[in-house]
Amino acid sequence: MKILGLAGSLRRASYNRALLKAALELAPSGWTTETFDALGALPFYDGDVEAAGQPAVVGDLRRAIAEADALLITTPEYNDGTSGVLKNALDWASRGPTRLLAGKPVAVLGTSPGGNGAQGGIESVVRTLRRTRSDVLDHVIAVPSAAAAFDEELTLADPRVRDEVAQLMAELADRAHTTAALAA
Ligand code: FNR
Repeated sequence: MKILGLAGSLRRASYNRALLKAALELAPSGWTTETFDALGALPFYDGDVEAAGQPAVVGDLRRAIAEADALLITTPEYNDGTSGVLKNALDWASRGPTRLLAGKPVAVLGTSPGGNGAQGGIESVVRTLRRTRSDVLDHVIAVPSAAAAFDEELTLADPRVRDEVAQLMAELADRAHTTAALAA
């Protein structure tokens, strides 16, 4: 069973990339985890580009999602929404001959340096995922005050946040097991 992680921020020192890494490390034992790190290489969604033939990197994203039993998404908050790169990736993933995201178990987390923990970004990702009929967990985690929750090496240091993230990962794994059992 495999969890695929997507982080909605491209910058190297991103708190959301650090949150994704921490969460994947807290996945239950026995789970394979990987990340898709090429969101920045996806072209902007364009119906003409799509009609001319699926770009290779879009195929890579779609394959990675298809092969995963669950998705884990971390998002920043940009002006009360998610980032353009993450929305673009979800738009590409929602296209194509198969409804890749439909029924896919997904957990969403976010963090910001401010007090709301990227709540607006999380809400916008959840709204988009619901529209694609993804199986989004009701349990989301917004981590406020990122500079305090992470240390200088960008390790998630806050023990209460770590516990909650581990709990969310267990819930995601349970949901994916149930989905796989129903499909078998
Ligand atoms: C932000 N930031 C921000 N923060 C917030 O709490 N609410 C917001 O609406 C916004 N809006 C916003 C817009 C844009 C264009 C940028 C670049 C930034 C600040 C943001 O939370 C901060 O830069 C985070 O550190 C971004 O996440 P990463 O890159 O650390 O994962």
